[in-house]
Amino acid sequence: MSVNKDIRRITTNTLQEMKHRGEPISMLTSYDYSMAHLVDGAGIDVILVGDSASNVMAGHETTLPITLEQMIYHAQGVVRAAQRCLVVVDLPFGSYQGNSKEALNSAIRIMKESGAHAVKMEGGEEIRESIQRILTAGIPVMGHLGLTPQSIYKFGTYQVRAKEEAEAARLLKDARLLDECGCFAIVLEKIPATLAAQVTKAVEVPTIGIGAGADVDGQVLVVNDMLGYTQDFSPRFLRRYMNAGEQITQAVKQYIIDVKSRDFPSDKEQY
Ligand code: KIV
Repeated sequence: MSVNKDIRRITTNTLQEMKHRGEPISMLTSYDYSMAHLVDGAGIDVILVGDSASNVMAGHETTLPITLEQMIYHAQGVVRAAQRCLVVVDLPFGSYQGNSKEALNSAIRIMKESGAHAVKMEGGEEIRESIQRILTAGIPVMGHLGLTPQSIYKFGTYQVRAKEEAEAARLLKDARLLDECGCFAIVLEKIPATLAAQVTKAVEVPTIGIGAGADVDGQVLVVNDMLGYTQDFSPRFLRRYMNAGEQITQAVKQYIIDVKSRDFPSDKEQY
């Protein structure tokens, strides 16, 4: 893939400037070259190679099974396509929670083998040492608080987090900690909008919400969900911008009809 030198790359500094200007940050997931080419070409600020690939690409029930090797494979395709946006890659479950040396090795593998620009990690105080070690190596880290899907078996449900005072206070403390550690942004997933607004005011770095209301510095959605490519997932926070699932089914049905009726290929579609 050739690099277009006329396009100015979005960096972690750009995101910080956008927060200061009050310009909302747009972020979507992508997991392969073709989708990332479209998403980047449309002008997105950040592509997240999310471990939601475990759900939407591999069909697992949770994000837990996806491996570091699989995340690197997805990230490589996305990085080849992305000319302008910042590419952030999720550190998958089991690649950073155990000890900080292993966390650093995982982050280095992602950066070296995929060419991505940053990593994302779920959690606060409990993974502080890993975050600090990765940051010390010069690798930008995006935090992720609230509903953290890698801990789904601890939570037990995908319901809104931090509705109770104690959990909200812990989340605010964790957000301040990630800010002070030097994370360049924090994803806030499925928490009350008032709490997300409070966190956004309390930290210097941009907050990116998913199901966290409007008073954050940016928004992120899973691209397959917002395009209606996935159809069995309809949380309140999800806005669908097209119904790709229906359109694809119709197109495939028409193709089958055309093949069975020998309408395809026509004289013009052969050599
Ligand atoms: O993996 C993912 O897609 C995510 C977003 C939901 C923020 O972490």
